[in-house]
Amino acid sequence: MSINIAIDGPAGAGKSTIAREVAKKLGFIYVDTGALYRATALFVLQRNIDPYDSDRVNAVLPMADVELRYVGGEQMVYLCGENVSRVIRTPEVSKAASSISANPKVREMLFDLQQDIAYSNNVVMDGRDIATVILPDAQIKIFLTATAEERAARRYNELTEKGMKVSYEDVLEDVKARDYQDEHRAIAPLKQAADAVLVDTTGKNLQEATDLVLAVVSENMPL
Ligand code: DC
Repeated sequence: MSINIAIDGPAGAGKSTIAREVAKKLGFIYVDTGALYRATALFVLQRNIDPYDSDRVNAVLPMADVELRYVGGEQMVYLCGENVSRVIRTPEVSKAASSISANPKVREMLFDLQQDIAYSNNVVMDGRDIATVILPDAQIKIFLTATAEERAARRYNELTEKGMKVSYEDVLEDVKARDYQDEHRAIAPLKQAADAVLVDTTGKNLQEATDLVLAVVSENMPL
């Protein structure tokens, strides 16, 4: 039986960096499920469809061929045969991904894909509904969070380091809007599973946060 570690939490809590590090340490596959929603959002944007227009989104969904491949242990996401791993990281795609992720048909389309990977591999999978919906039987469940202000400050630093001109207030507003959208959608909202361990990374650097998660993992790892 494969070992599954589920890490959920809001954007900017450090999920992907920490999950990747944990997977590397354990020799597990790291699965970034947000990339699946992002690739689907890109597909919709490429067709000039409003991500909130679920009728139009649903009409084109059967054509969206989203696939994960692993190259040297690194996850790549493919859309209709094209590697879109980089182009899905823009703010425009982030926003659209948040919108389409409230669409039940989108979640249904990506459900089997996520479960299949976890059933046949040892994985560290990060997302919003991994412990609650996708892998309710995961052996280890972690809810990783930090205050909105701290997550916005991290994002602001990332963006300004890349040379982007943004204000902290705008980034904070974006973070809060995305939290609200992810937490209040009718289907698979972002929430801590009853049996998940809460890890708050506020005031912690990446190394400290990773160590906290690794400690939870080693305490709960099945023998
Ligand atoms: O983690 P991320 O920022 O790459 O995720 C992009 C969007 O996809 C985010 O707004 C929430 C959504 N998402 C989701 O609904 N369920 C997941 N398991 C992963 C991401």
